[in-house]
Amino acid sequence: MSEKKDIFISYSNVDRDGVEQIVNTIKYYGVSCWFQLRDSKQHYIEEINQAINNSRDFVIFLSNASVSSLMVRNEISRAIFQQKKDASYDIVPVVIGDLSEENLEIINLYLGSLNWLYADKYADPESLALAIFEQAGIEPVRTEEHTQSAYSTEKEAEKIRLKEQNKYFNVYAEKYLDEVFLKYDDPAVLDVGCDTGDNILLRLQGRKYRFLVGVDRNPAAVEEAAASAPENAAFLCCDVTSDDFVRTLFGQMQRLRIIGFDVIHISAVLLHLAKVDELLKNLYMLLNPGGTIFIQDEDDGVNLAYPNSTYFDDCFYIWEHSKESGDRSTGRKLPSMLQEAGFRNIALHSSAISSVDFGGKFKEELWDLYFNPELWSADSAAYFDNYEAFDRLGKVQARHAQMKADYMSGKYFIMLGIFFLTATKE
Ligand SMILES: C[S@@+](CC[C@H](N)C(=O)[O-])C[C@H]1O[C@@H](n2cnc3c(N)ncnc32)[C@H](O)[C@@H]1O
Repeated sequence: MSEKKDIFISYSNVDRDGVEQIVNTIKYYGVSCWFQLRDSKQHYIEEINQAINNSRDFVIFLSNASVSSLMVRNEISRAIFQQKKDASYDIVPVVIGDLSEENLEIINLYLGSLNWLYADKYADPESLALAIFEQAGIEPVRTEEHTQSAYSTEKEAEKIRLKEQNKYFNVYAEKYLDEVFLKYDDPAVLDVGCDTGDNILLRLQGRKYRFLVGVDRNPAAVEEAAASAPENAAFLCCDVTSDDFVRTLFGQMQRLRIIGFDVIHISAVLLHLAKVDELLKNLYMLLNPGGTIFIQDEDDGVNLAYPNSTYFDDCFYIWEHSKESGDRSTGRKLPSMLQEAGFRNIALHSSAISSVDFGGKFKEELWDLYFNPELWSADSAAYFDNYEAFDRLGKVQARHAQMKADYMSGKYFIMLGIFFLTATKE
């Protein structure tokens, strides 16, 4: 049985590139599509028939190629049959190419009574997608508000990348954390979004702390953290944006006989979350008076490269439109959100890292962490929220080796927005 989808997409392989761009825009609005490569195998035809029955609506992209395809005509007949059984099943014809007199006559027999949309009348795929939704009676669910990103450390490549990133960022974080830890004799530490605990344990190395509590929503990561945890550390599995977060943490705090934390640490997490403001209010509550919150997060508004190249523009665009990148302008929002949540003494210790920091010691690491497409685990259009980003990925892959060589020879200077902030509870 095929999965239930909002829209079945009928089209010819000849038109695939153009259609895929519109389909990705449709998906960007949270509307699911049955959109598959064409194949004439018998079992596949049965699967198609089931998918048509299991979709809420049917969109047919009309061109000479699609109207001439027997497979597409079979799909249209199926859809018409389905509509006879279920009046709410909409069929939306979208003309995407020229139609010969003969093809026009044929397709009119099937779809002549319906309203046709003409793609060339719409300025961009987004306006066309909205017209399709309107005709099919679909409410798009996407809003401009940032929602939780699809980020996961479950992929092996991302685990390795994150480890490298942490080694590198710790050179910056260490000196800010030195100042924080100077203030406390034996602090209770909370790490929000701790993953396997590797980074917080690295950052706590050589520091005195009474105990550490780490929280992450990924059960496998928490299990791994707990398996090798030091005696004075506990790791909990919990979504920090859920209603359970504070309650779960209070339970742990009671067991540890504490009423709050002295240091709260959050590194590379907030950009992936929805409702950061609510989380900060909860963290304020969990902090002891006199306690400090330390945040490391990203802001692409600070990014620059000199001399500029379309290569960097393409990379920044790809990060912005990857479903796993989160809100890449989080950094700039934090000072006012921290203030609103009740924190004081808000300090931005640094807002960027660059290719010449520490005399260029980490020059190659900076490149590989951010500009090497092989390490992005982005292998299909589904990784992005629009087709353009996938298209640009191909351009970046083709130019990567030469760009890296030019960068290593000193041709480019790069600066990237990474914010290191602290704030306190008075
Ligand atoms: C980029 S990793 C950073 C991990 C670690 N803080 C570090 O610096 O290496 C982001 C982590 O946040 C966790 N995370 C994302 N959303 C979360 C949520 N809603 N609740 C708890 N953890 C979350 C992910 O599971 C992942 O382990």
